[in-house]
Amino acid sequence: KQIAVLMGGWSGEREVSLRTGKAVLKALQGSGYQACGIDVGRDLPQQLHDAGADVAFVALHGRFGEDGTVQGLLEMMGVPYTGCGVLSSSLTMDKIATKKILVYHDVPTPDFKVVRRGDDLEPLMTQCTDFPLVVKPCREGSTLGVTIAHDRESLHKGLQDALKFDTRVLVEEYIPGREVTVSVLDGEALPIIEVVPRGGFYDFNAKYVAGSTEYLLPAPLEPALYRRIAHAAVTACDALECRGAVRADFRVRENDFYCLEVNAIPGMTETSLLPKAAAEAGIAFDELVQRILEGAAL
Ligand code: DAL
Ligand code: MG
Repeated sequence: KQIAVLMGGWSGEREVSLRTGKAVLKALQGSGYQACGIDVGRDLPQQLHDAGADVAFVALHGRFGEDGTVQGLLEMMGVPYTGCGVLSSSLTMDKIATKKILVYHDVPTPDFKVVRRGDDLEPLMTQCTDFPLVVKPCREGSTLGVTIAHDRESLHKGLQDALKFDTRVLVEEYIPGREVTVSVLDGEALPIIEVVPRGGFYDFNAKYVAGSTEYLLPAPLEPALYRRIAHAAVTACDALECRGAVRADFRVRENDFYCLEVNAIPGMTETSLLPKAAAEAGIAFDELVQRILEGAAL
């Protein structure tokens, strides 16, 4: 069987996806699979046809890859693919839709307001007085377009910035405390990781520049809290109909935790979290890639 590793694309996370894709391709080829890489373009059906692809390993991040669009195309073409299906991908890419589902399932998530492109920002600016606040584009990844606003001025600038990335933006309550992440593989939580970015904010650089973040693994949480967070991660992933390897991100304030989002296609770069969590569970990178591949479906 010919496996096509789909990578690149044209989202803001293109470069991250190329790193994930190359790592996946290397792991597959090293394990004796027949695999090729595809730098995804708008002519993807033709690219898949030319590659003779029987199965697609989706190593794309962000829009047009992690959001159900590519998954829909693969469904139409009858090519089995790894990871979440159409609905799950669309829901998890959309932080507003995700949070509504989390609330419905009693998974705590920070309070938020929605701002749409074209909205008058003044009434919102008047309502938002409790700084800091987090401004995020609804459908982005790797912290692109995110601002932690400490005052009115930075809130306004943050909104303008985020609205360049997406037509809808969240203004979210900032949860002071710790950041932890739970990778979920085939419905089961892997060891939780606490991320301690040296600069204080787990932004794009802290995520992808080696040495800029400290990883505590397993996260040194009080055992009952650890179990509650792992359970909440699995609940969130089930509620969002996730499949394969996904990752739920949380903020922790004392004994409370808040789910920020679920990533349908977590990064698998050298600095990424899913491979670290899997390794801690005794699953080497090559084996992780094979597990994900074995889950490929329509
Ligand atoms: N969005 C990036 C790739 C991640 O969640 O790992
Ligand atoms: Mg994300």
